[in-house]
Amino acid sequence: MFSNILLRQPTIDDGADVFYLVQRCPPLDNNSSYCNFLQCSHFSTTSVAALQEGKLVGFISAYILPQQPDTLFVWQIAIDKSLRGQGMAPKMVKHILERPTCSDVRFIETTITPDNQSSWRVFEKLASQLESDLKHDVFLDKDQHFNGQHESEALVRIGPYR
Ligand SMILES: CC(C)(COP(=O)(O)OP(=O)(O)OC[C@H]1O[C@@H](n2cnc3c(N)ncnc32)[C@H](O)[C@@H]1OP(=O)(O)O)[C@@H](O)C(=O)NCCC(=O)NCCS
Repeated sequence: MFSNILLRQPTIDDGADVFYLVQRCPPLDNNSSYCNFLQCSHFSTTSVAALQEGKLVGFISAYILPQQPDTLFVWQIAIDKSLRGQGMAPKMVKHILERPTCSDVRFIETTITPDNQSSWRVFEKLASQLESDLKHDVFLDKDQHFNGQHESEALVRIGPYR
């Protein structure tokens, strides 16, 4: 299914392409291109780029929580519209987990808005594939933290998966 898709660590040269990919993947928040350059450099060993014929078609930014070295935090997932629904996102998360940088990782965390059903499905499927539990709680509340300007973000936690 993904025979023509290359998964690899991002490099700083991918930063601008990540900026434009995220722009065409609502409801993701657009970060500054500077932030995308940091994701592609400082966080490259825990992030992944998907390329099709040299074009960036998928990106996951993630990092290991500074105070919890057993937890990979998935920041954003962006899959080009043309490739959705084929299991790319869970496959890309597992690609990161297989790296030596993640050898101590036993938990995966992310945040999801209540209405992003596709994103919920990605993490439900991931929990099932890793034969792990999925728990969720409120992380950022619409009124308390976003002044009513952004949907609440649920903190989703999967694991321990090994
Ligand atoms: C959410 C997202 C990352 C999922 O990536 P993906 O590679 O399509 O993930 P999957 O193939 O595992 O599909 C996940 C679910 O998306 C839904 N889906 C299927 N086809 C779809 C399509 N063409 N378009 C949108 N969603 C679709 C299904 O509910 C699917 O679950 P299922 O496998 O149980 O049917 C992708 O839709 C995306 O980039 N969305 C925009 C940005 C976003 O919301 N990011 C996540 C927040 S961090």
